[in-house]
Amino acid sequence: MTLRSRPALAGVVAVAAAVSVATGTAFGGSSGSSVMGTGPNSSPVSTIGSPGVGDPLFPLSGNGGYDVRHYGLILEYDPKTRRLDGRADITARATQPLTRFDLDLKGLTVKGVTVNQAKAAFHRDGQELVITPDRPLRKGENFRVAITYAGIPKPLTFGPVRLGWTTTDDGAFVFSQPHGAMTWFPVNDHPKDKASYDFAITVPKGSTAVANGVLGGQKTVHGRTTFRWHQQEPMASYLATVAVGKFKVQQYTTPGGLKVYNAVDPREAAAWPALKKLPSVLDWASRLFGPYPFKSAGAIVVHSNAFGGLTALETQGRPVYPSSLSPRLMVHESAHQWFGNSVSLTTWKDIWLNEGFATYVEWLYDEQHGGESAQKTFDRLYATPADNPLWKDPVAAPPRPKDLFASGVYKRGAMTLHKLRTTVGDDTFFRILRSWVSSHRGGNATTAQFIRLAECLSHKDLGPLFHTWINTQGKPPQP
Ligand code: ARG
Ligand code: ZN
Repeated sequence: MTLRSRPALAGVVAVAAAVSVATGTAFGGSSGSSVMGTGPNSSPVSTIGSPGVGDPLFPLSGNGGYDVRHYGLILEYDPKTRRLDGRADITARATQPLTRFDLDLKGLTVKGVTVNQAKAAFHRDGQELVITPDRPLRKGENFRVAITYAGIPKPLTFGPVRLGWTTTDDGAFVFSQPHGAMTWFPVNDHPKDKASYDFAITVPKGSTAVANGVLGGQKTVHGRTTFRWHQQEPMASYLATVAVGKFKVQQYTTPGGLKVYNAVDPREAAAWPALKKLPSVLDWASRLFGPYPFKSAGAIVVHSNAFGGLTALETQGRPVYPSSLSPRLMVHESAHQWFGNSVSLTTWKDIWLNEGFATYVEWLYDEQHGGESAQKTFDRLYATPADNPLWKDPVAAPPRPKDLFASGVYKRGAMTLHKLRTTVGDDTFFRILRSWVSSHRGGNATTAQFIRLAECLSHKDLGPLFHTWINTQGKPPQP
């Protein structure tokens, strides 16, 4: 799904347009081997979707040549055998003529593929599921791909964590950031291609299957229960989630009309007091950054120490906490709903737009709830010695995939926002954040767009500030 950004200011319109043209060249333009030549050395006229969208850190993530509108995932999971049976119904639009295109899928067995209901040829090549429709697709054509598949999903290894579909003692959960979605469904696995999702998940009676969005219904037939979930607002694939377990479920609608669905493993009952605060945290954030971007909210708390119990993921509308849940962590994952989920990055190098922002929201929360001021937090961190890894890599350009979640991305990223705030003043700072959220709602954005927006609204040249804080290595000198 491609959403045009909706800039708040005329001045920003030009900037946003310029940036998206530039991105178009870097990604779309170079995408794939659209060989249309007729010279002696060129292959016959063929148009093949590229195996990646051109992300510098993950060259094979996502694919070129089409834009997914919607994923319909019909899944059946058996916690005993750990087998997943799936059917993915994908609606997409061709952005170039296509004789062949890829989806990403790692592991599992593909049983059959159709394109527009006609049987299509396919083969596997690493993480690429290469599909050849029985007739070429025209540029601009809407098409449907249906893939039936099955197997025991295996998570990927990504530094200390496992990515993708991960089993627990009585079920499974998903933790995909950045590229684990392909372990459980065929997908254009890059945040650039956001889409809406429907899930129908069948599990043994007595288990609950949770996903993103609003619960559409649940029905038990012959000892198996099917849960239907609907995620209407565009979602990046790494934020798609399913959790299966013997959860205790709490459902309610807030006075503001938000549908809350919490699923908590009974062994993690310590999470409930923090969860009670979710509506007030979301209200607080809505006052600062604009309306909560989705129709549903909640949390999934699983019993697993797959991640040393330390981390959580901001899966859309309903973060997954693979450990007990602290209010501070809930503030962080809630902040991502605005920063990262509604407004998504365009390449993974821009991860500070997610993590630096969510970290700064934690500081703001503390400051406004009787804790340390953001200035104090900044000062405390600034006292970190110059040889600390905090200062190592440029925040806006983590050099390797494993640097995506380095402390600098979170903390120095947040310090950058604090610098911005003290430079432009509180009024302008919060106007910048609100404008950022409203103009890119449901879409993607870049660091360059953020800087231009901040400059437009503050009437200041912020180039040097951002350069020092996000583009350079080493501890920034005291001004
Ligand atoms: N985005 C998560 C957070 O809110 C961090 C995930 C860290 N690890 C990972 N491999 N994705 O902090
Ligand atoms: Zn985060």
